[in-house]
Amino acid sequence: MSTTLRVRSYAHHDEDAVVRLWQTVFADDPPWNAPREMIRRKLEVQPDLFLVATLDAELVGTVVAGFDGVRGWIHHLAVTPTARRRGVASALMAEAEARLRALGCPKLNLQVRAGNRDAEAFYAALGFAVEARTSFGKRL
Ligand SMILES: CC(C)(COP(=O)(O)OP(=O)(O)OC[C@H]1O[C@@H](n2cnc3c(N)ncnc32)[C@H](O)[C@@H]1OP(=O)(O)O)[C@@H](O)C(=O)NCCC(=O)NCCS
Repeated sequence: MSTTLRVRSYAHHDEDAVVRLWQTVFADDPPWNAPREMIRRKLEVQPDLFLVATLDAELVGTVVAGFDGVRGWIHHLAVTPTARRRGVASALMAEAEARLRALGCPKLNLQVRAGNRDAEAFYAALGFAVEARTSFGKRL
């Protein structure tokens, strides 16, 4: 595999590769995260905060960020299993944070499913701290 890592905004020709990545990495996602629907919705809201990472021509990672005017949020940070521990997710997060900062975002939040040790270790390495909050959700 090449070592040329690039992070850029999502483009329409990435759709099939992103769907494959998410179906692999988030195989147990709920129906409201159906990949093609999620992509379509994200392209209508802050599409510049939907990033992909490539190693040469191969799409190997994604992150979906957003800024609601109060907080920045991170979703669907994913790296293909064979490309992990090579700095791909770190590069995606650095670009997402830079774009959020440029929008005036003062703080970033994210949720990790209980027991996701890889993600916990990754976010801790990036300087994120666990905060004592209860996460609520409601289906609309
Ligand atoms: C979490 C995830 C995105 C990390 O991607 P990655 O490209 O491998 O991360 P990086 O290479 O940038 O890692 C940076 C640092 O984070 C830490 N880290 C990353 N993955 C780790 C793991 N599995 N165990 C321990 N530390 C880890 C390390 O300190 C690492 O630096 P090092 O490799 O020099 O030791 C990837 O494992 C993944 O896609 N997991 C499944 C999807 C997921 O859980 N997403 C997040 C929740 S939405």
